[in-house]
Amino acid sequence: MQTIGVIGAGQMGRGIAQTVAAHGMKVLLADIDLATAQASLDVIDSGLGKLVGRGKMEVAEAESLMGRISAVADYTPMADADLIIEAATEKEPIKQAIFEKAGEILSQGAILASNTSSIPITRMANYSADPERFIGLHFFNPVPVMGLIEVIPGLATDPQVTERTVAFAEGLGKQVVLSQDEPGFVVNRILLPMINEAVFVLGQSTASIEDIDKGVRLGLNHPMGPLQLADFVGLDTCLDIIMVLYNTTGDSKYRPAPLLQKYVEAGWLGRKTGKGFYDYSGEMPVATR
Ligand code: 3HC
Repeated sequence: MQTIGVIGAGQMGRGIAQTVAAHGMKVLLADIDLATAQASLDVIDSGLGKLVGRGKMEVAEAESLMGRISAVADYTPMADADLIIEAATEKEPIKQAIFEKAGEILSQGAILASNTSSIPITRMANYSADPERFIGLHFFNPVPVMGLIEVIPGLATDPQVTERTVAFAEGLGKQVVLSQDEPGFVVNRILLPMINEAVFVLGQSTASIEDIDKGVRLGLNHPMGPLQLADFVGLDTCLDIIMVLYNTTGDSKYRPAPLLQKYVEAGWLGRKTGKGFYDYSGEMPVATR
């Protein structure tokens, strides 16, 4: 694959764009408008600057990587793309509008993929021009660092499209887990109940925020505790995913923790808003309860 379109220039879209460009492909990055996509390029650039500063990357490598990513105002230039990856907000109507629009320019033989965390692929395939060329391609945050990509064919996905998508993911130096199109796929089906349970534990005052995280970090050897990780993923995204699990299965074991809903209602969405289970305004994160 030569050219990849990425739609959605937030945390995940940026990480995907950086990783794809690091592997020599050209990236066209779109968001709601050119200014938003351009601002996202600046964030990638400053992240690469930090890697250069820490001696992890050569200046020339960072420059050539940036040279392969272009911000675009709309999807028209993506008519040349071999693969378009949607990485927008985890809201189905937003994704639907993207797939309908992308379907208008998708070239013959190109693949349309969604980085959805949990919304059914088979259902979303119907929003695209050709469900046989629609697939789930689920990256993990931070994309340049995490070693896994989940590939999720929908009911209508052509097996050759699955093969090409797996080859693309492996070409990024990642390992692939193939998942059936079931709620939460594999990893989020396991992760989100853990995060949700941690918020129940907090809501019942069983332990403090720091001790819940310390318990899981040291007791289970996870790099981050579940509340730290929730802040990292975004509490709104966590709530969206647990709601998909709850609504699609109807199983009460996935009911969202009331305290998670409360944090989202307060607009305390984690690192991206500067406050979630921790407050990030100072030098070190401080627990908010
Ligand atoms: N580009 C390239 N390299 C990067 C990078 C970036 N944007 N960000 C960090 N790195 C590199 C650093 O240079 C460093 O490299 P080194 O090991 O060679 O020195 C390495 O990554 C680790 O970074 P840091 O030293 O800054 O930080 P930590 O050692 O504290 O690790 C972490 C940070 C990798 C985020 C670690 O805490 C971690 O693995 N946390 C768990 C993350 C996780 O579980 N992610 C999955 C979330 S779920 C998800 O995404 C699915 C969604 O659908 C919800």
